[in-house]
Amino acid sequence: MTTHSLLLLPGDGIGPEVMAQVERVIAFFGKRGKASFKTETALVGGAAYDKHGVAVTDETVAKAQTVDAILFGSVGGPKWDKVAYEHRPEAGLLRLRKDLDLFANLRPAICYPALAEASSLKRELVEGLDILILRELTGGTYFGEPKEIVTLENGQRRGVDTTVYTTGEIERIARVAFDLARKRSGKVHSAEKRNVMVTGLLWNQVVTALHAKEGQGIKLEHILADACAMQLVRNPKQFDVIVCDNLFGDMLSDEAAMLTGSIGMLPSASLGAPDPKTGKRKALYEPVHGSAPDIAGQGSANPIAAIASYGMALRYSCDMPHEADMIDKAIAGTLARGFRTSDIMQPNMRKVGTADMGTAILEELATVAK
Ligand code: IPM
Ligand code: MG
Repeated sequence: MTTHSLLLLPGDGIGPEVMAQVERVIAFFGKRGKASFKTETALVGGAAYDKHGVAVTDETVAKAQTVDAILFGSVGGPKWDKVAYEHRPEAGLLRLRKDLDLFANLRPAICYPALAEASSLKRELVEGLDILILRELTGGTYFGEPKEIVTLENGQRRGVDTTVYTTGEIERIARVAFDLARKRSGKVHSAEKRNVMVTGLLWNQVVTALHAKEGQGIKLEHILADACAMQLVRNPKQFDVIVCDNLFGDMLSDEAAMLTGSIGMLPSASLGAPDPKTGKRKALYEPVHGSAPDIAGQGSANPIAAIASYGMALRYSCDMPHEADMIDKAIAGTLARGFRTSDIMQPNMRKVGTADMGTAILEELATVAK
């Protein structure tokens, strides 16, 4: 029997609360006996800073390099507002992404039928929505140098962030977009700002050239990133796969998340390149939502995004697509039965906390498994 090694990094805020529910779901699949899971837990973010003075330790990064998948919770919170910039909680996540070269960030935005009313858009605009934002995750404005605040001779201070992309970085993410689109409707929108940014111009040229070379069967459309943001709320179902750089992807994925009713619903996968020998990709799975310090510790957070992230790990790292489908079905079924955490609460539904939502999903899983 295959054993999959998982590194759990619950992090800060609601991270540990939602991860506790993920552990119950891991135990469920462990007991079913198709594969076993070996889990280890480590600190990240503010929790790591409090104990070790850094947002992630070298040992944890080394461990992360060796496991089949990392399950990440969330990091950050007001408690660490005054911490030096290089040690802020988010730095732990960014280092993991960069050191493991997790360049491809898959952020599906799926509107469960039961939640169409919870969206801030009209039901007909979002019902059945199933789009995938593919965000480049290791380049662009997040990591470009120089990145600094300098004091000028006239006493003013100047902050600089730098957006940098090479052809290789653009090609590899565009290739992932085409591969993913082939398993979906075959349509890719590439979003950039070629009208203002030279990185956008290069992005457009490289994606176009790769499409001519490797994009057989793919319908490629270029869209300016600002227009993409607008079209996402005007007519989101026109999209299937949207590929974009790191910064635009950060924003467009939050926007897309909200279309589905709650950012508490959405999972994500961050993947590296396949290993030339084994074909395996390094991978980190995390909910798109943040640490939600305002509700942390109350047991009210929505664990669905974290559980769905484990589902993505089953699909992309454990070769267990059937089990991944089971999780998706169990989530949809639980919502259809009326269970709601407060972020997605609607009239006449059953309001539950984090643990009860976990229990409801496990019950549903048991039914789906029959
Ligand atoms: C995300 C988050 C992160 C990002 C933060 C926590 C650094 O917003 O994953 O979208 O900006 O990438
Ligand atoms: Mg974000």
